[in-house]
Amino acid sequence: NNKKTLEGKTVLITAGPTYEAIDPVRFIGNHSSGKMGFSLAEEAVKRGAKVILISGPSSQVINDKNVDIHRVTSAKEMLAKVFEFYENVDIAIASAAVADYAPKEVALEKIKKNDDNLIIELIKNPDILKTMGEKKTHQFLVGFALETQNEEENAKAKLQKKNLDMIVLNSLRDKGAGFKNDTNKIKIFTKTDAIEFELKSKENVAKDILDFAESQLLK
Ligand code: C5P
Repeated sequence: NNKKTLEGKTVLITAGPTYEAIDPVRFIGNHSSGKMGFSLAEEAVKRGAKVILISGPSSQVINDKNVDIHRVTSAKEMLAKVFEFYENVDIAIASAAVADYAPKEVALEKIKKNDDNLIIELIKNPDILKTMGEKKTHQFLVGFALETQNEEENAKAKLQKKNLDMIVLNSLRDKGAGFKNDTNKIKIFTKTDAIEFELKSKENVAKDILDFAESQLLK
């Protein structure tokens, strides 16, 4: 399939984890590899799109003149970068595993191990995808849901709450799905449709996601 089905389209993708600083040497993060987002970026450029890839700390690399990559660290940086571009994109896909909370204060010096107990106060990070949903004008908006329980219910609730056009569910209960794996097993929901896919490589999952998004765009 070498059809340039996304020719002339701009696709914004968030990828990877975010790191939330505790002090100059430590952070709160997660195990997201960024593979799903980078696979989506690769597939989108193959289809002729211009891609804006906004990635948290990830060892993934991509070299393509049609991928404009911006590396960020924290959720707040990711939010700011997304909204530099959001207004002018046709499709936005939020595959980043954004930290839900960040330390309220970042210590200026390395925290010493003095006390037996250490309490770090956390405050909620901005929800980047929800903000995109609130500011949506013409964009086709795709979110992810990584769930461990009540998967479908939670995914459908997020579709509504975040004003998405489509949500991709990966359950941690499925072997080989989610986070660090090279494979993923997904279900896609829109307001009217639900479709389940087999376990496959993230490259092929990216194809399924973009095929489905394109089919919705043509509706
Ligand atoms: O609500 P939850 O974190 O499960 O939603 C997951 C979806 O929301 C993913 O698409 C993720 O990229 C996005 N998200 C975000 N900013 C956050 C939290 C999640 O963009 N702070």
